[in-house]
Amino acid sequence: MQVVSSGLEGVCVGESRISLVDGQAGRLILRGFHLHQLGEKGYEELAQILWEVPLSGLGEARVRVAPLLREALPLAGGLAPIEWLRLALDRLPDGKNPADWVAALGVALALRRNPQAEPDPQADHVADIARMAGLRWPDGLRRYWVCVAEHGMNASTFTARVVASTRAGQRAALSAALGALQGPLHGGAPGPVLDMLDELQLAPDPAAWFGQKLGAGERLMGFGHRIYRVRDPRAEVLRTACQKIAEHSPELAARLRFAEQMEGLATQALAAHKPGRVLQTNVEYYTALLLEAIGFQREEFTAVFACGRVLGWLAHIAEQEKEGRLIRPEVRYVGPLPAGD
Ligand code: ACO
Repeated sequence: MQVVSSGLEGVCVGESRISLVDGQAGRLILRGFHLHQLGEKGYEELAQILWEVPLSGLGEARVRVAPLLREALPLAGGLAPIEWLRLALDRLPDGKNPADWVAALGVALALRRNPQAEPDPQADHVADIARMAGLRWPDGLRRYWVCVAEHGMNASTFTARVVASTRAGQRAALSAALGALQGPLHGGAPGPVLDMLDELQLAPDPAAWFGQKLGAGERLMGFGHRIYRVRDPRAEVLRTACQKIAEHSPELAARLRFAEQMEGLATQALAAHKPGRVLQTNVEYYTALLLEAIGFQREEFTAVFACGRVLGWLAHIAEQEKEGRLIRPEVRYVGPLPAGD
């Protein structure tokens, strides 16, 4: 009889040299570095650490992809920003230069906000995307993208590896990963986190509000994790990034104070609701505050996440292609058998 693990919980699907997500200790290690040791690194530098080869020609790649994406912009109408990123990948000629895919996601995000924007090939990637997109606090965006670039065998990374294992290539693997990231149980949570905070601002009794939501079977967005049994270490890195901006932004300072109070009430409510399961703050809670302060719209948050996580996806695609083995698990059949079998 096959052993079934719902949601593949606890199943180890292989070996990787890219990152360690230590759920008991709340440690995240990328290629031998603690996450907090990488906080001052640039985006390109982090790519080099994750890929073990430099991310070269990214500025030129931004210039190369911009006209192709601008031409496709009329098709973006009516698409969610993350769907537009998938379309953007489809507009590029199929090559093997990872810089093109990275550039395409960032430039697509920026052009959707500002169709006239022109990339500057000499500029730092994050600074250039922030300028093109008309955003504030580019250093906050850099910190965010570095923080979320890689995180073990999460749903979108596993999806990318499954597709890469069929030898379908980088574009197909990235496109599938974008689809997996889109859902609210994975990368789609930070927009709803802000909706929740907005509702809480109006609630006369926030503690009772949490109790009612949980009693009705709803999930609190920005809390809980498959692997972490303590607070997600990325939550603290992003809270600190918010604090840095809050020193200059009274608006964010007020939002942050309120979110910190609500975090305490939410974790208390979750502990009372599920005493047997540790449900702590995850990466998406402070992501929501940070991306709002930087100037993104709620519906863009998941697409912004993708522009950071693409570095991790590409590292895993390369590792999977090198390994070369098709990923093909089994499933236990519980349906009917033909009469007589
Ligand atoms: N609020 C309320 N209850 C929760 C929450 C939550 N945020 N998270 C888990 N639970 C409960 C579940 O209802 C479940 O209860 P049950 O056993 O009575 O059905 C129990 O805790 C275990 O939940 P699972 O879904 O089995 O836990 P899993 O490890 O599969 O889920 C997940 C992890 C999907 C992140 C979950 O905690 C969740 O839905 N959180 C809210 C959405 C969110 O914040 N997503 C972003 C995740 S971070 C990222 O992907 C980048």
